[in-house]
Amino acid sequence: MDPNEAAQRSARVAAVFERVADTYDTVGVPWFTPIAERLVAELSPAPGERALDLGTGRGAALWPLADAVGPTGRVTGLDLAPAMVAATRREATERGLATVSLLVADAADPGLPEASFDLAVASLVLFFMPDPPEALRVWHNLLVPAGRLGLSTFGPRDAAWEQLDDVFTPFLPPQLLDARTSGARGPFVSDAGVEELLAAAGFTSVHTASFEQAVRFVDAEQWRLWSWSHGQRVYWDAVPQEHRGEVLAAGSERLEAARDSYGGFTLTQQVRITVGVRPPTVDRDALPGATTS
Ligand SMILES: C[S@@+](CC[C@H](N)C(=O)[O-])C[C@H]1O[C@@H](n2cnc3c(N)ncnc32)[C@H](O)[C@@H]1O
Repeated sequence: MDPNEAAQRSARVAAVFERVADTYDTVGVPWFTPIAERLVAELSPAPGERALDLGTGRGAALWPLADAVGPTGRVTGLDLAPAMVAATRREATERGLATVSLLVADAADPGLPEASFDLAVASLVLFFMPDPPEALRVWHNLLVPAGRLGLSTFGPRDAAWEQLDDVFTPFLPPQLLDARTSGARGPFVSDAGVEELLAAAGFTSVHTASFEQAVRFVDAEQWRLWSWSHGQRVYWDAVPQEHRGEVLAAGSERLEAARDSYGGFTLTQQVRITVGVRPPTVDRDALPGATTS
């Protein structure tokens, strides 16, 4: 992709997250945190390790990483949206986490030293990168040999969720339809597609762990608030003001298909966790029986 076009695309993505930074992951609907916790657990961070959180947002993966690496480790979180970084930095201070540092940086080219992290995660971020294969090559080089990378991306949603999100479809411009993060086509449509991206970037031991994540709303208003509070804000933005009431009414009606036995609404989404390892370097001269010439 042309570098200018890539920069413009990233700037558009960052602008959305800049606007939602204050409400992101704070409307009482657990979603980003449970996904990030599963991702972090999959990499088994150990005390003392150096961890990187690419596209940290409000720190859904950052906090479990900091807990796991402990006071002898360190965690770097970066994000392209300055308001996300500012809010997460404030929270790191409130939590008294001296081991955490936060940067405003583009994950496509973060300007960090090569081979300086034992593990890196990107939770719900790779599909925003203008050139995912190139981003993965950069992330590969930030890891030490035998360092681990973990990504979360979206698999399929249940039928009720598909129908609910379709309330926006008539208003979405083509580029937004294509950018749906569950991926109707391209590498993000399957486990194998994402695994191939990692393998092509040089990762080995690539594998996928998928799980089903539920999201629950007490009522349609909480769904509206939640969808407004994160990246789905772009869908609402695409709906002209005079049509928002009808979209909300259609959403409320479609939520009925997801009514649960506790009087709220439960939707489910497959979440894919893909893990890979930067190949370890083997010092052949140090192997038992090696001869020096
Ligand atoms: C869906 S949010 C996920 C945030 C966090 N990882 C989580 O799980 O809650 C995507 C985040 O990636 C950030 N982002 C998107 N493109 C980026 C880029 N090129 N470089 C750094 N951050 C980026 C956005 O600003 C946003 O905070």
